[in-house]
Amino acid sequence: MPALVLLGAQWGDEGKGKATDLLGGSVDYVVRYQGGNNAGHTVVVGDQKYALHLLPSGILSPGCTPVIGNGVVVDPAVLLSELSGLNERGVDTSKLLVSGNAHLITPYHTTLDKVTERFLGKRKIGTTGRGIGPTYADKINRVGIRVQDLYDESILEQKVEAALDFKNQILAKLYNRRAIEAGKIVEELLGYGEQIRPYVADTTLILNNALDEGKVVLFEGGQGTLLDVDHGTYPFVTSSNPTSGGACTGAGVGPTRISRVIGILKAYTTRVGAGPFPTELFDDDGEALRRIGGERGVTTGRDRRCGWFDAVIARYATRVNGLTDFFLTKLDVLTGWEQIPVCVAYEIDGKRVEELPYSQSDFHHAKPVYEMLPGWSEDITQAKSFGDLPKNAQAYVKALEEMSGAPISAIGVGPGRDETIEINSFL
Ligand code: GDP
Ligand code: IMO
Ligand code: MG
Repeated sequence: MPALVLLGAQWGDEGKGKATDLLGGSVDYVVRYQGGNNAGHTVVVGDQKYALHLLPSGILSPGCTPVIGNGVVVDPAVLLSELSGLNERGVDTSKLLVSGNAHLITPYHTTLDKVTERFLGKRKIGTTGRGIGPTYADKINRVGIRVQDLYDESILEQKVEAALDFKNQILAKLYNRRAIEAGKIVEELLGYGEQIRPYVADTTLILNNALDEGKVVLFEGGQGTLLDVDHGTYPFVTSSNPTSGGACTGAGVGPTRISRVIGILKAYTTRVGAGPFPTELFDDDGEALRRIGGERGVTTGRDRRCGWFDAVIARYATRVNGLTDFFLTKLDVLTGWEQIPVCVAYEIDGKRVEELPYSQSDFHHAKPVYEMLPGWSEDITQAKSFGDLPKNAQAYVKALEEMSGAPISAIGVGPGRDETIEINSFL
């Protein structure tokens, strides 16, 4: 069982942090491969609650080595503050490894993210404002700054100057903002560089060697399939590849190493930020899902948009990720509904459509076709096996499994590590 990928099957916030943490005790490495501190992963261990943004959730499992891969964008100030926050709570973070090839989010990236969103006005994406898009844009444009640049002052100076020569024109002339001084940025970055030096490593080599030795590596996705820059609801997406292929490019590990791809799937749907969302609810049911599910962003504190389960999306996630399993989360939140609508297909311009349309305009016009499934009223948070669930909850899970195209191998019935029903082992 060499490498597994665990990723979001919807629009993020499916419960990846909890699922990763659950497996963290049995794997040797947990690797973030894309995204940055736009992620907000909540992990509940006993009576302690942790909100992780940049660090892999494996950091909370003592035997596990957490890795920030080359595909991640790293805000060094956030990295250091997250590390010190965990150290203050007694968590040992000394095993962390950070790829020298990961790109750095600098203050000019966060500034550009925010001013661009303001400039877009009502066409904005609703980004987290963490500098993610501008940093990935610089990477692709070949004007980015990498972690390894922090250890060669003259190269760092040249790169920051080159980046700012151009960006200051935009900031001053287009956005009417003050220019940013390259010298100050360089000084700040050099300071961070010294502090993160102990963690910086050739993570690709380390991970491939570990796999050769039979160690178990878990890749933890940020965001979700529908936020993928290639496969998501573009342009209302993030700027990286949370889908399974991203694990290979974002960690330097070949696809032949990966034997299991687990999609984390919420028993209903949520989304943060702008963009189409066919099953979104604007009524009391939507409000109830938000309240019962605690659907408020961990990173930005924004209310999440809520809606019923969408099987078209789940099937799409199975397809583009090659999912081998689902981990269904938050089933407990649905307790108490007499009937639960599930979207089984879309109606687009009067026609029934079973698969996610590739055309953006079609998706914007998609109306959900619902099937009603009977609900349950019994408390399920103590359920330890599938058989402990009320018959209607079992039938709901089985129906979702059939519609979604991969086996549901675990079910979350609460936020805690032990509030999980394991059906098939992941390891
Ligand atoms: P992530 O970004 O995918 O890691 O998900 P978030 O942490 O942003 O949001 C998921 C929320 O649901 C967190 O508050 C988790 O503690 C919580 N959670 C995860 N699994 C379950 C579950 O099965 N039931 C309940 N009630 N809460 C869960
Ligand atoms: P986790 O890992 C939900 C959304 C933002 C916005 C879009 C682009 O906790 O599931 P960005 O700042 O990435 O350029 O914003 O993506 N977004 C998320 N939504 N969960 C996340 O992460 C997200 N990370 C980004 O709301 O719509
Ligand atoms: Mg989240």
